Amino acid sequence: MREYFIQAAYLAASVLFILGLKSLTRPEKAQRGMQQAALGMLLAIAGTLVHHDIVRYDWIIGGLILGSLIGYPLGMFVPMTAMPQRIAISHMFGALAATLVGVAEYWQHSHGGGSAAGGSMGVATDISPGKMAALGFEVLFGALTVTGSFMAFGKLQEILPGRPITFKGQNLINLALFAATLGIFVYLIFNPGNATLFYTMIALAFVIGILLVIPIGGADMPVVISLLNSYAGLASAATGFAIGNNVLIIAGALDGASGFVLSIIMSKAMNRSFGNILFGAFGSVVTASAKSVTGLTARSISAEDAAMQLGYAQSVIVIPGYGMAVAQAQHQVRELAELIEKKGGEVKYAIHPVAGRMPGHMNVLLAEANVPYDRLYDMDDINPEFERADVALVIGANDVVNPAARTDPGSPIYGMPILNVDSARNIIVLKRSMNPGFAGIENELFYNPKTSMLFGDAKASLAALVGEVRNL
Ligand code: TAP
Repeated sequence: MREYFIQAAYLAASVLFILGLKSLTRPEKAQRGMQQAALGMLLAIAGTLVHHDIVRYDWIIGGLILGSLIGYPLGMFVPMTAMPQRIAISHMFGALAATLVGVAEYWQHSHGGGSAAGGSMGVATDISPGKMAALGFEVLFGALTVTGSFMAFGKLQEILPGRPITFKGQNLINLALFAATLGIFVYLIFNPGNATLFYTMIALAFVIGILLVIPIGGADMPVVISLLNSYAGLASAATGFAIGNNVLIIAGALDGASGFVLSIIMSKAMNRSFGNILFGAFGSVVTASAKSVTGLTARSISAEDAAMQLGYAQSVIVIPGYGMAVAQAQHQVRELAELIEKKGGEVKYAIHPVAGRMPGHMNVLLAEANVPYDRLYDMDDINPEFERADVALVIGANDVVNPAARTDPGSPIYGMPILNVDSARNIIVLKRSMNPGFAGIENELFYNPKTSMLFGDAKASLAALVGEVRNL
């Protein structure tokens, strides 16, 4: 009976995880998707709690309380701009759990659970090659995800230097360490009794996690985190195989696959290969080969004049970017859009797939400010509309509207699909200075004769615009 309940709970949890992921693909259903996934997790925990392997509950209850105490503030109080590092730290915990389960499983076989004691350090050798492969995979991916995620967290939180840290012979050392770890892994599959090598492999994986992430620039961390997410998923799936737990296998596989797909989508939208992200040290230096715009001057505009253009426009396209997230200006954006609509104009939002610093960054912020979902347009849908727009209002976006991606083969963003803002009749750009964005390159759009720059923090500029448009 108990076993039926466990398997039924696991099955329902797995279905809910899949439904949750499916709902997350549509903004209007995303909230429900999160609720479905959370319910799935609750069922998975409930099923696990009645497992006959559990002989005492005191540690488990303590763990549940401690986990809730850590998880609740992480979910409720961490600001949206800090979401990438929050996700990194959750991956670290998840991967740590997978690694510890792997170690416990190995330990159990060597001290008590195993029948045939033997091998070096007197440990059990009754682990089958298949089980050892799953265990090895679990602790290997788990351990490197723990330190890798922690390094990603440190870079994003600026506890560690965000710039790529490189040293002579780095690739060679990484390769040698990786080969040694892989060698131990294969050896252990056939000689599981060698505990010293098992723990050495975990130690090496911890070091590899650090070495893999330090040469990558802080700004590339979201892609790295998504990749580490997929490693943590693989580690969980391997845990499922090692301890014979179906829901872990399914959830781990879903996590691993979705993290990997997301990394590919992000790299594609940036027109970069995984290799370039992992070894390219992108975003750290201004690229010398990018076309210079020296000699051109940008035209600045007052809030009053910008408000005149916006207030009398028939069609306005808003292009949010990372600067809107930094300024937390999404509520002012919605306020301004509502005023323009009241005056008879139409407002649409153009969402670039990698605007901001994490997937869906702009969608989440605009949804938080209650911007209706049907006003948000994907790049391919909105691009043909720019030529009919009276004003393109760029709010803290830079790389995603940089025409160099189309015209300058020397530019690091050459080939990246961009929003065709330069086709609009008028362009107003809100940013604080002429500083470059994430890719570290200048933007010719800001010197376009159709462009006016409204300098200042986006939130303050939008508040001024709201005031001016209201007075028109
Ligand atoms: P960016 O190119 O990074 O430009 C953001 C601009 O916002 C900056 O030029 C900055 O100029 C301005 N800004 C910053 N704080 C501001 C504030 N308080 N008020 C007004 N403006 C402010 O942003 P983007 O166009 O969104 O492009 C995203 C970039 O990140 C792309 O290169 C993309 O490849 C990369 N990336 C994205 C992701 C994902 S998944 N979204 C992941 C990794 C990397 P000032 O300093 O002059 O104000």
